Amino acid sequence: MIQIVPFAKEYLLAAEALSTQQGWPHTVAEWQQMLALGQGLAALQNGQVVGTTLSWTHDRAATLGMVIVDQEHRGQGIAARLVQAALDRIGDLPVVLTATDMARRGYARLGFEKVGMVDTCRGVPVSLSRDPDVEAGFSDEVLVLDAAARGWDRSHVLRSLIAGGATC
Ligand SMILES: CC(C)(COP(=O)(O)OP(=O)(O)OC[C@H]1O[C@@H](n2cnc3c(N)ncnc32)[C@H](O)[C@@H]1OP(=O)(O)O)[C@@H](O)C(=O)NCCC(=O)NCCS
Repeated sequence: MIQIVPFAKEYLLAAEALSTQQGWPHTVAEWQQMLALGQGLAALQNGQVVGTTLSWTHDRAATLGMVIVDQEHRGQGIAARLVQAALDRIGDLPVVLTATDMARRGYARLGFEKVGMVDTCRGVPVSLSRDPDVEAGFSDEVLVLDAAARGWDRSHVLRSLIAGGATC
């Protein structure tokens, strides 16, 4: 039987294994940071993590992501249960997410509408050192611009990324 439970710290390693299974680069530290900025749910089978989702609540919208179901457990409605449980927790705020092609039909079934496309580029950074230009250029004005462009205030997220040594 699948149980949907709040994401606990003990699940971080299993969550990293799930994202690695997808070829996604997220480490335990990144999962931890994302969890600290929001809230999460895990799907457990016999105590083992077989699915995850994280969500983040902002002032005028919430965002949702890291929806992953273990390859061996797909097609049983686990993602649908995870996302529905996350939506129930979020309440009335509009919810915005970036869906993979694999998940798009599932989100449509839950009532999401496509509003645009996002191109992603992946690569290995030449340098992982802190970029002083990023820190120097980061100000409240940047946060105001970001909120105006995006439609909601996510300054706590950006401040956390900068504090963690964002490089671009
Ligand atoms: C997308 C994903 C989360 C869906 O998880 P899931 O628990 O299998 O999803 P559900 O069972 O709720 O949804 C049913 C879907 O599984 C399909 N399915 C049925 N059997 C399946 C199987 N053995 N393997 C995979 N998918 C199967 C169904 O056809 C249905 O597809 P549709 O949504 O295209 O119509 C999962 O495939 C996954 O982790 N993908 C990689 C990470 C990813 O893309 N995450 C989404 C981020 S936005």
